[in-house]
Amino acid sequence: MIERLILSNFRNYQSQDIKFGGKVNILTGENGQGKTNVLEAIYFLSFLRSFRTTCIDDLKKIGTAGFYLGAVLLSEKWNRLIEVENFDKKSLRIDKLPIKKSSDFIGLIKPIVFSHEDIKFITGTAKTRRRNLDIFISLLNKSYFSDLQNYVAALKSRNFMLRLAEKDLKAIESYEPVLASYGEKIVLERYRVVSLLEEKADKIIKEIKGNEFSLKKKYFSRIKFEDSNRDCILRHMAQERQRDIKRGYSGVGPHLDDVELYLNNRSLKSFGSIGECRIASLCLKLAEAEIITEKDSQTSIALVDDVSGELDAKTKDAFYKTIDRFSQVFLTFTKVQKESYFEKSTNYFVKEGTVCC
Ligand SMILES: Nc1ncnc2c1ncn2[C@@H]1O[C@H](COP(=O)(O)OP(=O)(O)OP(=O)(O)O)[C@@H](O)[C@H]1O
Ligand SMILES: [Mg+2]
Repeated sequence: MIERLILSNFRNYQSQDIKFGGKVNILTGENGQGKTNVLEAIYFLSFLRSFRTTCIDDLKKIGTAGFYLGAVLLSEKWNRLIEVENFDKKSLRIDKLPIKKSSDFIGLIKPIVFSHEDIKFITGTAKTRRRNLDIFISLLNKSYFSDLQNYVAALKSRNFMLRLAEKDLKAIESYEPVLASYGEKIVLERYRVVSLLEEKADKIIKEIKGNEFSLKKKYFSRIKFEDSNRDCILRHMAQERQRDIKRGYSGVGPHLDDVELYLNNRSLKSFGSIGECRIASLCLKLAEAEIITEKDSQTSIALVDDVSGELDAKTKDAFYKTIDRFSQVFLTFTKVQKESYFEKSTNYFVKEGTVCC
């Protein structure tokens, strides 16, 4: 549980220290005051990324050199102070001790974000969909995150060699066993988790909308499930090597894969209405929520950015039932909430980069 959050020169916050009361924390304020920025700060401390941008520089308060974020985490067994400083480079600390590897820092809190922008995980680019899936799997499986980092490092090096005017065939080839080994782990884990998500999301849409609805989630890879082993991937890469040299990048591997969602057997990306995409993306997020809380209910938290207000009664019910499984929930709203779910919540008011209770 997050007991305290400290922000310094983060987005529109200059200096803010917030004490969170308990399980349900509600941030209320008008548009543009800093509600989502608080959720983003929590997410950044969990994952060292933003859920809104890939440009870390955007996170520092405009006109400043960098930002600081800190949080006190409480569990039954320990309490910890986690800190990130992001100036010219990033420095991480847990209980004042410097942490060198980001993989040793991330995952102390496991956040699932519910936001209007979730729809882009259906309608956006393959890269956006892959990134979302990778982030979710990394929350479930810490070694997946390092496998991915190692894979990307080897891929960058191989692509660099492929782009050189003078091709060094031996050097290009030398990265292939590493790529194939990590590639196998990544592809297998993606097949496994996509099928888990499909099963849950399908159950959830049936509960909310009725048995006549179905959701399917498919993972598309040039590496078929039955070929997802190091030797097969290595063979694929060797076959593709000459073409890779001509085009200047690696044309086989999980970095090119995609995931697609189907509502009643029809691709949502190609045919879905906005309303259909919204309900499907909510079901998918609720599926992620079920999986993560089944695995680790102690450290998983929900960050709900102004989404529950517009849900119909049945969907709202399913939503709050699932949200209740998290150890802690942070919700943002533009108006004060009066529903029974919020009776035991702690309320915070956000105005011009200041949060008060
Ligand atoms: N790097 C930055 N430096 C200073 N201000 C920033 C920075 N990034 C964003 N802001 C400002 O922070 C303000 C609050 O943003 P935030 O997204 O948290 O608003 P919000 O309260 O969630 O509003 P809404 O209800 O519209 O979603 C915005 O006015 C935005 O322009
Ligand atoms: Mg917002």
